[in-house]
Formats: sequence, C-alpha cells, structure tokens
Amino acid sequence: MKKLFAFVLAVAAASAACGPKTGAAPAPLTPEAATTAAARRPGSTPTSIAAGHDTFIANCNRCHGYPLLSAIPDEKWPSILDEMAEKAKLTPEAKRQVLDFVLAARASDAKQ
Ligand code: HEC
Repeated sequence: MKKLFAFVLAVAAASAACGPKTGAAPAPLTPEAATTAAARRPGSTPTSIAAGHDTFIANCNRCHGYPLLSAIPDEKWPSILDEMAEKAKLTPEAKRQVLDFVLAARASDAKQ
C-alpha cells in the first residue's frame, strides 16, 4: 500500500512538472471580436481564426488538458506551436490557423 501511495505521488509530481497549465475549453470568438483581431494581425482572417479554434478543440486536449491561453505570453506561442503541431500532426496551414486563434483569443480576453 505504501508503495502504491509513493507511485501515485510520483506520477502526480511528474504530470505537474511537464505539460501546460490547463483550463476549460476556450470559447470561439464572436464575429465582432474575430473581425477586430483579424484586422490587427496581418494574414489572419475571421475564417482562419474560426478554423484554428476548431483545430485547437479537436487536438489540443489529446495528451494534456486544454492549455490555459492566458498563462503563456504571445511571443512564446509560435515556438510552442511548432513543437505541438508536430506532436498533433497538423499541416503548416492548420498550425498557422491555431496561432491566429490563440493570439486573437488572448487579445480579446485582455480587452474584457
Ligand atoms: C501527442 C501529444 C500532444 C498533443 C496532440 C499536443 N500536445 Fe502539447 N504537450 C505535449 C507534451 C508531452 C508536453 C510537455 C512536454 C513538452 O513541452 O514537450 C506538452 C506541452 C505543451 C505546452 C507547454 C509548453 C511549454 O513550453 O510551456 C503547451 C502550451 C502545449 N503543449 C500546447 C498544445 C497545443 C496548443 C496543442 C494543439 C495544437 C497541443 N499542445 C497538442 C503533448 C501533446
């Protein structure tokens, strides 16, 4: 029993040490918020932001919980997504759309 307890503690410590801080599934942006965010980030559109949300919801809780978008600053997301897109086997376009969504969601959260 003691061994089992030690094992459970070790697993808990290991899973706390790696993987993102997680939260609830992020909501899609409203059409207004998506339009505002798309105007600020060249190359992104309300459609790419919506597609990025769908890809995020479908893939980004498969190995860990949904990462908490507010916990990671904008400048870290591109390199994190390079790594995670490979793990999730996303196409380069899907990866870019997830980045469009993440940055748009962060910008609109900051405003609220
Ligand atoms: C195949 C499994 C897998 C999938 C799918 C996956 N991840 Fe991860 N993720 C991991 C593992 C393992 C770690 C912890 C080790 C590491 O950073 O490589 C991690 C860590 C992270 C971190 C923390 C990185 C850091 O440096 O703080 C973030 C943020 C993250 N994932 C976001 C995502 C997003 C967004 C997606 C969807 C595109 C995703 N993950 C899909 C396995 C996965």
